[in-house]
Amino acid sequence: MDPMNRPATTPEVSAWRAETPGSDRLVHLNNAGAALVPHQVADAVDAHLRLERELGGYEAADARREEIAAAHASVARVLGAPAASIAMVQNATLGFAHALQAFDFRPGDRILTSRADYVSNQIMYLSLGRRCGVEIVRAPDGPAGGTDPDAVRSLISRQRPTLVALTWVPTNSGLVQPVEAIGELCRAAEVPYLVDACQAAGQLPVDVTRLGCDYLTGTARKFLRGPRGVGFLYVSERALAAGAHPLLVDMRGATWSDPDDFTLVPDALRFESWEISHALVLGLGAAADYALKVGIETATHRARALAAYARARLSSVPGVRVLDRGPELCAIVTADLGVPADAVKTTLRARGINTSSAEREDAVIDMDEKGTASVLRISPHYYNTAEEIDIAVAAVGEAVTGNQETVNGER
Ligand SMILES: Cc1ncc(COP(=O)(O)O)c(C=O)c1O
Repeated sequence: MDPMNRPATTPEVSAWRAETPGSDRLVHLNNAGAALVPHQVADAVDAHLRLERELGGYEAADARREEIAAAHASVARVLGAPAASIAMVQNATLGFAHALQAFDFRPGDRILTSRADYVSNQIMYLSLGRRCGVEIVRAPDGPAGGTDPDAVRSLISRQRPTLVALTWVPTNSGLVQPVEAIGELCRAAEVPYLVDACQAAGQLPVDVTRLGCDYLTGTARKFLRGPRGVGFLYVSERALAAGAHPLLVDMRGATWSDPDDFTLVPDALRFESWEISHALVLGLGAAADYALKVGIETATHRARALAAYARARLSSVPGVRVLDRGPELCAIVTADLGVPADAVKTTLRARGINTSSAEREDAVIDMDEKGTASVLRISPHYYNTAEEIDIAVAAVGEAVTGNQETVNGER
């Protein structure tokens, strides 16, 4: 396989890189952390900050009201959703928390989730357990890895969860969870379904109708290539019609209509907060437009091919163990290096190669199961090249050897 050639052509790659400041200086393989933004995104953010300086912050927001609404519509297009179903939020975790707040959890209620759900989501479930007596049920994995839909089917019918919550692509493994199959089960059983698409948006095609989800969260900064500090929450028409809203709704989401009453706004804006960076919202809109221009399927295929290439190359480095397993793998590559991954990440960064590392507490269940204390994560995107993977893997090999020699007292 030659990920340089399929399915995107070299002139396309050159064009994407020309539009990506930083790609000429850095080997940026940390798209699962925060991608390099195309200049169109940076321009949208900068233009609005400039306008705020020229007009004033509130006045600039009024002047760009239509463009801000258009940013909601652009994110909606990426998700196959109506614009009225999109709330802009300060980060994906807040969007997820707002979705959880739409439920009146009572002692004995159950949240059915996975063993690989995102760390902050797991902590929020546990906090609901502590404060509200919610029981957390984690569906077992299938033999090939990833949540087993048959187990979910049986747990739904036996345990009648109040909510099924699933992280589509866990942060520290290349796994892609069977979100669509589980969505079908939720719809059939009429159980609300919350999907964390933080690592999926921009990396994989998303269609909320096919997923059958009630809520879906994401961020700008990862595979969508938007700015840091902004994310989004999709809320289904079904949930909106049922009157869903976050427990702590503010004056963006509702009107204080009487001294003792409030009236919700009709659309997903009821999940937004009044104060947010409009520059970042506009940057997210520009990122969504850019992702659609590149083509999500093009991005998916090329990023996956580069990740598969990275897995193959990394596997040949002595002492390195690639950890990704599951029936479907994506553009996140994780490996145990036999030495602390954090130190290797830092060494690579000093050479202009960006990766990331995670510790046990970032994914307790997964890491314990794989018998590792830290992992290095390499996450290519479509604008990366096979040559960059070669550079990174060679540097990993040198860093691992260097680290082993230091540990063995040979230096
Ligand atoms: C799968 C997943 N969900 C949620 C988040 C949290 O996103 P944010 O930091 O924008 O709240 C992350 C961040 O890495 C993530 O990987």
